[in-house]
Amino acid sequence: MGSLVNLKDLSVEEIIEILDIAEEFMAGKRVDLSDKLVANLFFEPSTRTRYSFEAAESRLGCQVLSFAKEASSMLKGESLYDTVMTFSQYVDAIIIRHDQDNFYEDLVGNIPVPIINGGDGCGNHPTQSLLDLLTIRQEFGKFEGLKILIVGDIVHSRVAHTNIEVMRRLGMDVFLSAPPALQENQEEFVDFDEMISEVDIVMLLRVQFERHREKLNISQEEYHKLYGLTVERYEKMQDHAIIMHPAPVNRGLEIDDSLVECEKSRIFKQMKNGMFIRMAVLYRALTRGGLK
Ligand code: CP
Repeated sequence: MGSLVNLKDLSVEEIIEILDIAEEFMAGKRVDLSDKLVANLFFEPSTRTRYSFEAAESRLGCQVLSFAKEASSMLKGESLYDTVMTFSQYVDAIIIRHDQDNFYEDLVGNIPVPIINGGDGCGNHPTQSLLDLLTIRQEFGKFEGLKILIVGDIVHSRVAHTNIEVMRRLGMDVFLSAPPALQENQEEFVDFDEMISEVDIVMLLRVQFERHREKLNISQEEYHKLYGLTVERYEKMQDHAIIMHPAPVNRGLEIDDSLVECEKSRIFKQMKNGMFIRMAVLYRALTRGGLK
């Protein structure tokens, strides 16, 4: 069908193929999909995912329908399913971001056009993970044997959930560090200061205050000192190691303000790669039905 809702649905070969197509677009590959119409249904705020999808659609030549819930019949009680089914009568693919985990479960298999997950609650963020993988491959030329330390709000992070699964599948060693309140029971957690000099990649996660049911029991200063990338920790990183963050960044909390654009940071490169990954995902879905 061409939907992409969870990277678990793709084989390693399919993932590598998407990265390769993204590289082709980055190198100047041009296509004309002006006969295709895409709808972007965003039920949560977004800058990177929403506008990099719009940029990708525009660069592919697609026509785009934008959506505003407050101007739609959802305000009269229409369900997500009926809204998406309605859009599927008009367009060739639908991008959806929603605050509900697995919002796509009753859509995929019933909606007659590809559904692309732009992030579901604390569940998954497949296109973010693909752009993270592209950034890592550009840097190191491989995945097998690389060590990554993911630090921060693991329990609420759809980015972490998708990355942990796919990075382990690709042969990377994934280490996690988080305050006890933001850990997940089934995972082992390591000490940030013990691991920082061992890893190739340090990935910071945004503290998702909007998803916290209970107040995080430490001050912002304390969080930065214990779990933030401070200048002191930065100096312990290996020469070749890089910094990643899916953004938006709470500057001075997850990472010292001065490090966001430092030599080791790939944060803005990740954002640029996002546009090429989303071109590849859309191209594959719209032209080949290659995604499940
Ligand atoms: N990384 C990411 O998904 O950012 P947005 O919430 O701005 O889309």
